[in-house]
Amino acid sequence: MKLTVNIPGKAYDITIEKGALSHIADYINLKGKCAVITDSNVDEFHADTVVKSLASKYDVYKFVFPAGEESKTIYTLNEIYGFLADNSFNRGDFIVALGGGVVGDTAGLAAATYMRGIKYVQIPTTLLAQVDSSVGGKVAVDIPQGKNMVGNFYQPNAVIIDPTVLKTLSPDFFADGMAEVIKYGCIEDKNLFDKLFSYSKEEFDANIENIIYTCVDIKRRYVEEDELDTGARMKLNFGHTIGHAIEKYYNYSTLSHGRAVAIGMNYVTLISEKLGLTPSGSAKKIVECLKKYDLPHDIATDVLKKSVEFIGADKKNIGKQLNVIMLEEIGKSFIHKTDTQIFGGLF
Ligand SMILES: NC(=O)c1ccc[n+]([C@@H]2O[C@H](COP(=O)([O-])OP(=O)(O)OC[C@H]3O[C@@H](n4cnc5c(N)ncnc54)[C@H](O)[C@@H]3O)[C@@H](O)[C@H]2O)c1
Ligand SMILES: [Zn+2]
Repeated sequence: MKLTVNIPGKAYDITIEKGALSHIADYINLKGKCAVITDSNVDEFHADTVVKSLASKYDVYKFVFPAGEESKTIYTLNEIYGFLADNSFNRGDFIVALGGGVVGDTAGLAAATYMRGIKYVQIPTTLLAQVDSSVGGKVAVDIPQGKNMVGNFYQPNAVIIDPTVLKTLSPDFFADGMAEVIKYGCIEDKNLFDKLFSYSKEEFDANIENIIYTCVDIKRRYVEEDELDTGARMKLNFGHTIGHAIEKYYNYSTLSHGRAVAIGMNYVTLISEKLGLTPSGSAKKIVECLKKYDLPHDIATDVLKKSVEFIGADKKNIGKQLNVIMLEEIGKSFIHKTDTQIFGGLF
């Protein structure tokens, strides 16, 4: 299955195919030599397959950094720059980002900045990276003051998605990606939501390519319409305002992004139901779907209270209009312009 992201002057193909990893070189039409950048876990499971295929066509160099969000820093970035320079990479060469969102974001920022930008290919290996972070060109690293604070928009030259790599992913990380998959159903595609709701485990596995395709296609449309995230692309933030607040409350440990977003989708829908903006019963349906994929939907009231207080206390939000994404119904979303008082509706 193939999709093209049509951003003027920066169009690229996204291929979704079981088994693509073993002949990855067939999907890459770049010149020069290539640097495969990956993390320690992905290196163990999948790097050999990728390097072997690429070596049939390119001079291949490999850089591995320790797995985990803690590696998504300017220090790793600096090591990547050194690695590229030591191996005489120049603007005619390219990077292959092989891994989850951490690798994609870090290697993508390296590609965006090394020698003022070199080409790069995304090979996402987590469900989250396959349906979300590998598409759209947001690249960044974290600094102590905040996540994704240093970055850019820099579109890849190709994205190649092999769903079979998900077999080695831990169930926890798989569930995390499922929160984003369910999000796509909620904001844009009732048919996807209904399928996720009713699929048996076997049906889900048999349809994984289609599910990923549907999610990526939605992201593609948003990115084409709003590359720099100032309008429609914001709808991808459904569940994220409250989700981010909870993640922050826990200092980005204890509760993963996907789980925080799952909880956020439930609470924001409860608020919009109270306001009469979403048909009642929608949150209940979302919760049932979240439970089916081992995702949480609620959190202790005191934690929720403190978390949403953060949104209000955040200097960036004071007196500012907040764009909160809500559902007209499951499968249709809108941007609700409001302020932080809205979260009072939860208590
Ligand atoms: N750029 C964007 O638009 C965007 C969007 C959403 C999230 N993100 C970023 O993505 C990051 C989270 O991404 P993530 O959830 O993929 O985390 P991750 O990259 O840390 O991957 C999760 C874990 O799974 C391991 N792993 C990856 N693929 C595997 C595989 N196939 N088999 C076994 N283990 C595997 C990794 O080593 C890691 O331990 C965050 O930093 C977030 O900010 C970016
Ligand atoms: Zn997210």
